[in-house]
Amino acid sequence: MEEKVLMLLREKTNMYVSGEEVSRTLQVSRTAIWKYIGRLREKGYTIDSSPRRGYCLRAVPDLLIPFEIRHGLTTELLGRKIYAYATIDSTNRRARELAQDGASDGTIVVAEMQTEGRGRLGREWNSPQGGIWLSLILRPQIQPFKVQSITLLTAVVAAETTELIADVAVGIKWPNDLLLHGKKVAGILTEVSAEMDCVRYLIVGIGLNANVAITSFPESVKDIATSLLVQTGQAVQRTEWVRIFLQRFEQEYNYVVQHGFSAILKRWREYSITLGQDVVVHCAGQRIVGHAVDINEQGALLVETANGIEAFWAGEVSLHNE
Ligand code: BTN
Repeated sequence: MEEKVLMLLREKTNMYVSGEEVSRTLQVSRTAIWKYIGRLREKGYTIDSSPRRGYCLRAVPDLLIPFEIRHGLTTELLGRKIYAYATIDSTNRRARELAQDGASDGTIVVAEMQTEGRGRLGREWNSPQGGIWLSLILRPQIQPFKVQSITLLTAVVAAETTELIADVAVGIKWPNDLLLHGKKVAGILTEVSAEMDCVRYLIVGIGLNANVAITSFPESVKDIATSLLVQTGQAVQRTEWVRIFLQRFEQEYNYVVQHGFSAILKRWREYSITLGQDVVVHCAGQRIVGHAVDINEQGALLVETANGIEAFWAGEVSLHNE
């Protein structure tokens, strides 16, 4: 009901809507309306009230809450079911739990803060207030070896969305780090539950240091990580980022599942800051030096080494001169 009250006020943002009109339209008492208005204010909505004129919505908060994410969202599946938390240990962990309990394809989990955010290769992911910590539950009918392409697709869509929202130029470091002026601004962690030839579910976790203040970065990552706020001096509307991301992601994902990965691969290459570089690949305890020449249809990095072209599916890449 709160959402319905909000919708009515939203249609006439900056104008007064009488308590009587709200109560008549929604068929609830004026006392109940007052209660819902109180709850919306608690969430951060600025609503003026006047005994004679009624209620007037002045400002909406940039909070990752279902109301706001859903507002104007035109996806069919993605984000139709939203679990939102002020604080959680890890949205990926929660998403996995929900997926195991049968959560539907396209369910998303978001949080304002994570206390045990997880990164790739068993690392921690620093997740303070101001970022976007988001996990998608997907149930694609694809073979497990194609999962990597979904991760690369996520990186492309996250890069495009970020460029659109923050007016910056980002690059992708294989496989899926988003870099801004050489520092990491976002990362993606994909976790999969699969059998030999089919995927049960996929959790795609995206962490974007959107409006994270410089003071929120621990010393250990200050030299290698950044945020959109730090780089541009301006806060972005996180709910808008999430909405645009979900919309574009759904479109591209449906396309990739049906028609394959080639079109996305081309865009990934355009964003890549890894290809054409001398690299060091750290993979399964080994350190391999070579020249990154391409990625293949499955998203593996192709590196020309002393032994010829080698394909890497996982690992960490640093540019040789880093
Ligand atoms: C990386 O190491 O680059 C991947 C970082 C992924 C972080 C995101 S934040 C939302 C989701 N929940 C997590 O615990 N991790 C991912």
